[in-house]
Amino acid sequence: MASLVVANWKMNPKTANEAKKIFAGTVAGSKKIKRAQIIICPPSAFLGLFAGKAKKVKLGAQNCHWEEKGAFTGEVSLAQIKDIGCRFVLIGHSERRKLFGETDEMINKKVLAALNFGLTPILCLGETAEEKEEGRTFQVLKDQLEKGLNGVIKKMADKIILAYEPVWAIGTGKVCETCQAEEVNIFLKKAINEKYGRTIANAMPILYGGSVKSDNVLSFIKEAKMSGVLVGGASLDPKEFIKIAQQIDF
Ligand code: PGA
Repeated sequence: MASLVVANWKMNPKTANEAKKIFAGTVAGSKKIKRAQIIICPPSAFLGLFAGKAKKVKLGAQNCHWEEKGAFTGEVSLAQIKDIGCRFVLIGHSERRKLFGETDEMINKKVLAALNFGLTPILCLGETAEEKEEGRTFQVLKDQLEKGLNGVIKKMADKIILAYEPVWAIGTGKVCETCQAEEVNIFLKKAINEKYGRTIANAMPILYGGSVKSDNVLSFIKEAKMSGVLVGGASLDPKEFIKIAQQIDF
């Protein structure tokens, strides 16, 4: 399976020009990439700028509401992001959980809605520093996974991408040790196997995210056997982002 390299720009580009520059740099660099699939998730205000602008690079949204339309001031709907060319959507990022009060129930509604809309949800999971210290990593992941996928039937499960993002590693420069990432990978695969069977467990991509750079990315793919990476900070620098993709372009 070719690696997935997902860029999460978060709310960082301040102007359309800044966003266009990062996009153009990434698209230009993507010509060097043979197999890896690049997915860019710009802020929703700028998504429309990039609709249909690149074939090789796919577009994703950073968030969505679960309702098709209606009185939900400030929200972005799946119908809207799909209409402007998004095929992927990040769901349950730890910043959404922590800063915007997203619960597992809300995240589950988004996952179900995205699947019903034919978009691929990238469901983010991960423990906080405190939960890790208390030795609760696997319990937290199990809980987030079970609640996040509640009601997702087998027929739809093969459309899901998981992203393991330990909260303490996001934007901190602290990288998860490869052995922990590998243990989590095995744990998640086992949980998916129990829920949906081996075929789906083997096929479901599991990404790693949290302070990924070009000098640490390889171990997450080679040693921890992740299917790809979710990149925040480093995705704002197209050169570094493409270097990351090149490292795992096999
Ligand atoms: P980071 O963010 O690469 O800046 O740590 C990753 C993420 O939040 O997806």
